[in-house]
This record gives sequence, structure tokens and C-alpha cells, in this order.
Amino acid sequence: MKAAVLNSIPGHLEIQDVQVSNPAPREVLVRTSAAGLCHSDLHFMEGKYPHPCPSILGHESAGVVEAVGSMVSYVQPGDHVITCLSAFCGHCSQCTNGHMTLCENKDRELVRGRDDAPRLSRNGEAVHQFMHLSSFAEQMLIHEQALVKIDKDMPFDKAALIGCGVTTGLGAVFRTAKVEPGQTVSVIGCGGIGLSAIQGARIAGANRIIAVDTVESKLELAQSMGATHIVDASKVDPVEAVRELSGGGVHHAFEAVGAKTTAEQSFKMLDSGGQATVIGMIPVGTVVEVHGVELLNEKTLTGSNMGSNQFRTDMPRFIDMYLQGRLMLDEMVSKTIALDDINEGFEDMKSGNVARSVITFD
Ligand SMILES: NC(=O)c1ccc[n+]([C@@H]2O[C@H](COP(=O)([O-])OP(=O)(O)OC[C@H]3O[C@@H](n4cnc5c(N)ncnc54)[C@H](O)[C@@H]3O)[C@@H](O)[C@H]2O)c1
Ligand SMILES: [Zn+2]
Ligand SMILES: [Zn+2]
Repeated sequence: MKAAVLNSIPGHLEIQDVQVSNPAPREVLVRTSAAGLCHSDLHFMEGKYPHPCPSILGHESAGVVEAVGSMVSYVQPGDHVITCLSAFCGHCSQCTNGHMTLCENKDRELVRGRDDAPRLSRNGEAVHQFMHLSSFAEQMLIHEQALVKIDKDMPFDKAALIGCGVTTGLGAVFRTAKVEPGQTVSVIGCGGIGLSAIQGARIAGANRIIAVDTVESKLELAQSMGATHIVDASKVDPVEAVRELSGGGVHHAFEAVGAKTTAEQSFKMLDSGGQATVIGMIPVGTVVEVHGVELLNEKTLTGSNMGSNQFRTDMPRFIDMYLQGRLMLDEMVSKTIALDDINEGFEDMKSGNVARSVITFD
């Protein structure tokens, strides 16, 4: 099959021929229909996070089941699915406590062992799977607990977005922060994740939703998706602006960029008792600092992993919200591209001009 392979870090993706193994008892072979480009993939390409090479990136996807292993009963060939990197074992203390995104067995039970043939290979050499998925490829061979079955009415390109960006942004609002109706919210960074957090805040009933970005077109998109106020951080100090617009500070701030400065800004723009939820992936080794005295005001700084999701519950709900017209996904797909154009897709992401580019496969 054709796949976009990362052969060195930092590096670009190369379209190459890769071989896929047959499904083991609990594995599912999925034909990829659509795969979104998320900034997390770019962080790995740029070396801000480590990953072995060669590997196939991509983790925001939807497709059709082609074959299943002997023990799989949840799906069968022909089913439509969304994949999720939050693969869960279902029996560790985190899973049984409802925190499947923190599953303790993720990298033990849900991957193939060292002595087993690899799921992906190139001329006999193992190709590393990325986040249990590797979506930038025509097929994915994944654990059955890394996917959810979905309604066949759901278009694949929009379904793919739910695989990461939408679930992360909405989940950060609904599950991690538990935003209440009437609260004030700010969101720093209006890419796929931030726009989803803005929509989550709107659906949760926040009264004031302040969007912060440095690109004008992103702020316009944010307004169209529910932001009540916008702040251009390239022109004004976002902390001062948000504090002023919210009458002293917000109840909830979300960081959806992945940088020290913006994470610290999210904490500084809180009202007393407020919570800053950092969604962005801050480069490994970077320290985020807060003034200790601010803790006396009972402010919280926390992170959110994939929106603290329980994806087999959440993703079908998000599909219903879309089909009911309450969740805007058409507007989030700025471009559909071919796998061959993937590097240009990441250049678009760097320029800040697209909400999401989605690869569609014929
Ligand atoms: N925690 C998780 O589970 C999880 C899941 C998915 C993505 N992420 C992370 O979320 C972050 C956002 O991802 P994305 O795909 O939406 O990225 P993106 O590149 O599409 O969007 C980032 C946005 O931030 C804006 N921005 C950049 N610098 C800014 C600044 N100083 N102030 C305000 N805005 C600024 C950009 O203009 C852009 O609109 C990334 O760090 C990604 O790795 C985390
Ligand atoms: Zn992602
Ligand atoms: Zn587990």
C-alpha cells in the first residue's frame, strides 16, 4: 500500500510502498477513507517530540473495516469506523475508573510484542506505527479498542476530524474542564483544536467566549463558530485584553497552541478560582512557570489528553451534534488533498491559514 513515511527527524514525509500484516486475533484492518492533518504530527516531524524512524504518522482518521481478527466481534467487514489514538485495555485501574485516555497498558497490551512480526514493514524492515494508528496510509492495522463504529450517513472527511481535533477540543470543555452554562471562557489558538473548544464552549452554554489568535482569518472563523469576542495577540497583550473583556478574568482558559508563553498566558488570564486547561503539546523539556502567590487565589493549571475522552460514548454523540446542525464541521475542512500533497498540507498549517486539511483516499 501507499503510505507517507517519516524517514528522518526533522524531516518531510516520503510517499513509499509499505506492507501490512494480517490481523492478529484482536486486530482490525481498516481501509482509510480520510485522514486529517493535526499539529501534533508536525511536532513529531520537527523533532519537538521524539519518535523512532521509519514511521508512518497520522492519527485523525475514518475508514471502512476490511478484515477482522479471529476474536473480534465488535465490528465486521463493511462497517464504518473512526479511529482513536486513545486505545484502551479496559481493565487497568485508569480504564475501570473511567480515565481511558490514561490507560496503563496502552504500550504493552495494545501493540504487537517484540518477537511478533511487525504490523507495518518495508522490504522486511519494521516501520513504526504512530500512536497506535498511522493514518497517512491507504490501510491501517489497529487494535480493536482503537476504533468506534459509526453511522454510515456520516461523511468520512468530517468523521475523520472527530478522530482527534473535535474530540480533543470538545472533550477538554465537556470532560476535562466541565464548563458550566453562563461561564466565561477564553481559547488561545484557533486551529482545529481551538475552534473545537470554542464550539464546545458554545454548546456548553458559556456566555462569553473570547477567541485569541495571531491570524485575522482564524479570528473570523472563530466568530462564525461561537466566539463572542476576539483578540488579535499580534496587536495587543492577550492577557490584558481578556481580563478587560471578561471583567477581571475568565472562569476557564484553554491553551490550544503548545507553547510556554501561551500556556503561561492562559493561567494569567484567569479570575480567582478559575482553571487553565493546556491542550497544546508543549515541547519536551520546556518548563511552564506560574507565580506562586496566584495559587492563593485557588487557580488551577491542568492539561487535557485527547479531551479526557471516552470515545465510544463521545464520538457517536458528536456525530449526532453534527447531523443536527449544532456542531459545525463542514467549515472546519478548509481543504481536501491527496496523500501525494501531504507536505504542502503541512506547509499550509505552518502558514496558519487553514483550519484543517484532510486527505481523502479514492
Ligand atoms: N492534548 C492533546 O491530546 C492534543 C490533541 C491534539 C492536538 N494537540 C495539540 O494542540 C495544539 C493545536 O493543534 P492544532 O492542530 O489546532 O494546531 P494549528 O496549527 O491548526 O492551530 C494553532 C493555532 O494557534 C495560533 N497561534 C500560534 N501562535 C499563537 C500565539 N502566540 N497566540 C495565539 N495564537 C497562536 C495559530 O495561528 C493557529 O491558528 C498543538 O500543540 C497540538 O499538538 C493536543
Ligand atoms: Zn491530533
Ligand atoms: Zn487500561
